[in-house]
Amino acid sequence: MAAAEEKKRVFIKTYGCQMNVYDSERMTDALAADGYVSTQKVEEADLVLLNTCHIREKAAEKVYSELGRIRVMKEDAARSGRQVMVGVTGCVAQAEGAEIARRAPVVDLVVGPQSYQHLPRLLKEAASGRRAIETEFAIEQKFDTLPAATKAQTRARGVTAFLTIQEGCDKFCTFCVVPYTRGAEVSRAAEAILKEAQRLGDAGVRELTLLGQNVNAWHGDGTDGRSWGLGELLYRLAEIPGLDRLRYTTSHPRDMDQALIAAHGDLPALMPYLHLPVQSGADRILAAMNRKHGSDDYLRLVDRIRAARPDIALSSDFIVGFPGESDAEFEATMRLIETVGYAAAYSFKYSPRPGTPAALRDDMVSEAVMSERLQRLQALVAAQQTAFNRQAVGTVVDVLFEKPGRMAGQIMGRTPYLQAVAVEAGPERIGTIGRVAIDGLGTNSLFGSLAGAQPRPEAPMARNATAAETAP
Ligand code: SAH
Ligand code: SF4
Ligand code: F3S
Repeated sequence: MAAAEEKKRVFIKTYGCQMNVYDSERMTDALAADGYVSTQKVEEADLVLLNTCHIREKAAEKVYSELGRIRVMKEDAARSGRQVMVGVTGCVAQAEGAEIARRAPVVDLVVGPQSYQHLPRLLKEAASGRRAIETEFAIEQKFDTLPAATKAQTRARGVTAFLTIQEGCDKFCTFCVVPYTRGAEVSRAAEAILKEAQRLGDAGVRELTLLGQNVNAWHGDGTDGRSWGLGELLYRLAEIPGLDRLRYTTSHPRDMDQALIAAHGDLPALMPYLHLPVQSGADRILAAMNRKHGSDDYLRLVDRIRAARPDIALSSDFIVGFPGESDAEFEATMRLIETVGYAAAYSFKYSPRPGTPAALRDDMVSEAVMSERLQRLQALVAAQQTAFNRQAVGTVVDVLFEKPGRMAGQIMGRTPYLQAVAVEAGPERIGTIGRVAIDGLGTNSLFGSLAGAQPRPEAPMARNATAAETAP
């Protein structure tokens, strides 16, 4: 055990989107190769990394309050002779760079999302007392340089996995920081993706979610000598044994090409759930956002997708109170939501971000109006979500069992439509896909029972008998 005790411990806190979750895993893998073990307890860590998000002001500000707490911890550790290193990675690191260390001197290193392959070197630099700041957009692709997870590491993460296939954004929506924090659109090579997917499948992963800021902008040279888009890639991924479920996120409406839509009709492994953010239902606002599509384009696209896969569940992101948004324009968004009918949606008040064109506008919508609009929009979406989930009650669906439930004797899984389901069953079923009869609707999940399973001996009797008859 002595060797393990000498190992340094890293604690990573992850904010923001799934791509940060994936990046944190890859940093964990890279640091493992460098002798670090990961810990869930921040107070015992030798290295604390905050993998941050810059998308809205609140997200970015959280980092500084967390750094305040970490400073106290670092000082305590120093008093007992232990050096703790503190790093900020992710989109705040990219956006603010050296400014972070000026504002929070507790920070030893700042590393932007395109430089994680340099982490071991930067850590050595910082350990020698020189603050390390790296926010260059490197030429080489980090994922082809970072060490891969071992089979054991992958297994420990469960039966669902993320795989980043595309990073960065060239769309420049006028409200958004991502093109600045993640850089230009880059697609990973098809061969590297297929290899990693194969490795994940071999390690027991059953559901793979492909990630990209604009995941459906992915393109590359196929292994058949032709050029591929995401549709073609999905056909190949669907052939990999073990990977029974494929998903991808986040897609941009402008990059939904015919091959990708057709894949939804053709591939049983491609799950019938699509996150397709529209942001607004008003054409003037969509134009001001530089989305480069109108509300009709979006509705026609939804029709085409539903023609290919009639049962597909859709979700979206919405921004309320984009500068200049009138009451009528907000109502147009409400109408679009009514027309589409969503299974889920994420909605936000517009947050002005430094360096983005929309932040310079002088027609900001008031906080009170934004709050009122957000509340109404969220109530509509919640009603649609409940209606969608209620439809499932009484049906039998395939559920991938992912983890133990909160209650003893329960396990949690997901339907093809991404609904969480709690099922009374033993943990040995985790990692399998089973038929589940959906019999109830909770606040955050559905309840179900294994279909075709033998009823417990006492169940039918208890239902028919009175309490007196069953009393011993
Ligand atoms: N690439 C994805 C979205 C990434 S950001 C896409 O194009 O759809 C996730 C969501 O955050 C966005 O869809 C948007 O709804 C929201 N968002 C981004 N910038 C924002 C801002 N400045 N204020 C409020 N919400 C914002
Ligand atoms: Fe941001 Fe628009 Fe790019 Fe999405 S498409 S990441 S919202 S700039
Ligand atoms: Fe946030 Fe960066 Fe993702 S800003 S949403 S962590 S791409």
